[in-house]
Amino acid sequence: MAKIKKAWFCSSCGNESPKWMGKCPACGEWNTMVEEIVSKAPDSSSLTSRAQSFLQGGGGAKPQPLPQIESGRESRILVGGGNGTCREGNELDRVLGGGMVKGSLVLIGGEPGIGKSTLSLQIPLMNEGLRTLYVSGEESARQIKMRAERLGGAHDNCLVLSETLLENILTEARTAAPQLLIIDSIQTIYSHNIESSAGSVSQVRECAAALLRYAKETGTPVILIGHITKDGTIAGPKVLEHIVDVVLQFEGDSRHAYRILRSIKNRFGSTAELAVYQMCSDGLREILNPSEMFIPMHGENLSGIAVAAMLDGSRPFLIEVQALVSSAAYGTPQRSATGFDVRRMNMLLAVLEKRVGFRLSQKDVFLNIAGGLKVADPACDMAIVAAILSSNFDESIPAGYAFAGEIGLSGEIRPVSQIEKRIAEAAKLGMEKIFISAFNKPQGKPHKGLQVMPVSTVADLVKNIF
Ligand code: TYD
Ligand code: MG
Repeated sequence: MAKIKKAWFCSSCGNESPKWMGKCPACGEWNTMVEEIVSKAPDSSSLTSRAQSFLQGGGGAKPQPLPQIESGRESRILVGGGNGTCREGNELDRVLGGGMVKGSLVLIGGEPGIGKSTLSLQIPLMNEGLRTLYVSGEESARQIKMRAERLGGAHDNCLVLSETLLENILTEARTAAPQLLIIDSIQTIYSHNIESSAGSVSQVRECAAALLRYAKETGTPVILIGHITKDGTIAGPKVLEHIVDVVLQFEGDSRHAYRILRSIKNRFGSTAELAVYQMCSDGLREILNPSEMFIPMHGENLSGIAVAAMLDGSRPFLIEVQALVSSAAYGTPQRSATGFDVRRMNMLLAVLEKRVGFRLSQKDVFLNIAGGLKVADPACDMAIVAAILSSNFDESIPAGYAFAGEIGLSGEIRPVSQIEKRIAEAAKLGMEKIFISAFNKPQGKPHKGLQVMPVSTVADLVKNIF
């Protein structure tokens, strides 16, 4: 019997060490070393005969002259379905930077129940011409069939395999020769070369590396589904994120129907891309115009509401900011913000107090970004201040007003990036006025029906809206 070899792995960066250490020497994190059983000597008894012959015959790559290498442009696969229906797919191609590059490894991370399996199963179902092998280590083939029926489709080019042993998956993939391989999920598969359990640092690292080799050698794009830990990082070592070509994050609030697919690493495109989906009873649907979803058109005039023209990645959104200011019931006023950094809100309140003389210190202030969105764009500052003041005065802001400006500590309104995009989005949604920084000089033609209002200070803003 092979001798059992043990090693310590850092669960944050995957660094291997022969003994336990309080602090990882590679990444400097404390208390991250976990013990795992490793057996590097391959024991081929549990392999199928085809897997054994593959392991013996697996040749390496040869050096080639640069001009003779096939370039990336024509070797992309469109996963969009191409029939122009408003379903998952085309948006995914855009987030990937124009389709999937052949031989690339794409990691889709997200919380449980967010829709990773749904998203990845919809790809083969929407692309009848794309031969896909969907491997699930979580669900049985029958469960996948039931899900596919809900999503409305089944065809011969969609192959399904319920398997968790890496070597068997690779053998089946070699035989089936799919144009796309999907692994759901990387944490459930294991290699027989390593004795620690599935989902452990060494297993995740080895399996991902083996799949990377498969992808590069055969030119097949591989999608890996990854779980997310409590603190929002992809479970398993950080090396997983380093070895894959593209990392897509699927996020959203499970209580709301919308989901955002965001590119956080992309070797073949921009990371400024994102796509918005809605979870329906028959799967995920693309939302081509997200602003319409986030700003409900109120008939009546309510106070404490302002519309911000924000940017997420390179995509403009109009979102609704809601504020409630009331007299503090207790000695210390309460400050709470949902979807926005509460420290930044406190800063904005301090600016209002100091620069324009609003006595907000005896008031409770609550802030909410409608739709369950989380915003980090400083251009939302102006809308937040407008909403707070509107609630404080109990005077509504006209429904056709939008705001895009950052607020500085001296109460000045600072310019924001890509103002033309924000203005164009406001015009598209039929806004009447957009307030921007006087220092922002938008290029391009004015939009019909939309008046651009330059303001330079918070006091200036107050004069213009109330
Ligand atoms: P799933 O793709 O299984 O999530 P993940 O793989 O990320 O864990 O999707 C889970 C949720 O999506 C589930 O709670 C139910 C919901 N759902 C729908 O609302 N409509 C559908 O058509 C499908 C397939 C799932
Ligand atoms: Mg799943």
